Amino acid sequence: MKKIAIFASGSGSNFQAIMDSIKIGNLDASVELLVCDRQDAYVLERANREQTPIFCFNPKSYESKAEFESEIVLELNKRNVDYIILAGYMRLIGPTLLNEFSNRIINIHPSLLPSFPGKDAIGQAFRAGVKVTGVTIHFVDEGMDTGPIIAQEALNIDESDTEITLAEKVHEIEHRLYPETIQALFQKLSVIN
Ligand code: GAR
Repeated sequence: MKKIAIFASGSGSNFQAIMDSIKIGNLDASVELLVCDRQDAYVLERANREQTPIFCFNPKSYESKAEFESEIVLELNKRNVDYIILAGYMRLIGPTLLNEFSNRIINIHPSLLPSFPGKDAIGQAFRAGVKVTGVTIHFVDEGMDTGPIIAQEALNIDESDTEITLAEKVHEIEHRLYPETIQALFQKLSVIN
C-alpha cells in the first residue's frame, strides 16, 4: 500500500474526498501526513477529525523556500512517504522537494490545462466565456500548473451557469476524479514493479 502525504492550503474538500475513498475501500493508500502552509486553513480541522498527523508551518518564519522544504522532506522521510498529493496547495514546489520526490508529486487543477493556470482558474474560465472547462491531474515539475498530464475531464459551461454553479460542478468532478486517478496510477505502478 502506498503511503501518501497531502499538501493543502485551504478548505480541504479534496483532502476529504481522498480520506473518504480510502475509508470505503476505493483507494488503497494511507495518508501519513497533512502538510499545510496556513494556520487558519479549514483543512486542519478536517485532518484533526480524521486523526491525520499534521505538519503546519508558517513560510514567513523561514529564510527561504529551501529551508522550509528541507524540513518538510525530513517529516516525509520520517514517515516513509511514497507520494505527495497536492490538493489546493497554493505554492510552487521548489527544487528541494522536486529532487527528493522526483516524478512522485501529483497536483489537481480546476481547468483544462494548459488553459487557465494559476489562481482562481474557475473564475478565469468563467470570465473568459469559454464553453468548455474541466479538471486536470498532472505530475508536478518546476512550473506553475505544468508537468505531464495524467488525467483530464471536461465539462460544459451552460448559459444558466454562474461562477458558483460552475465551481460546484468542477468540485464534484474533482472529488471523484482525484481518488480514482491516484488509485489507477498506483495500480499501474504495482503491475510494473
Ligand atoms: C481545488 O479546486 C484545486 O483544484 C485547486 O484548489 C482547490 C482546493 O480546494 N488547486 C489549484 O488551483 C492549484 N493551482 P479544496 O481545498 O476544497 O480541496
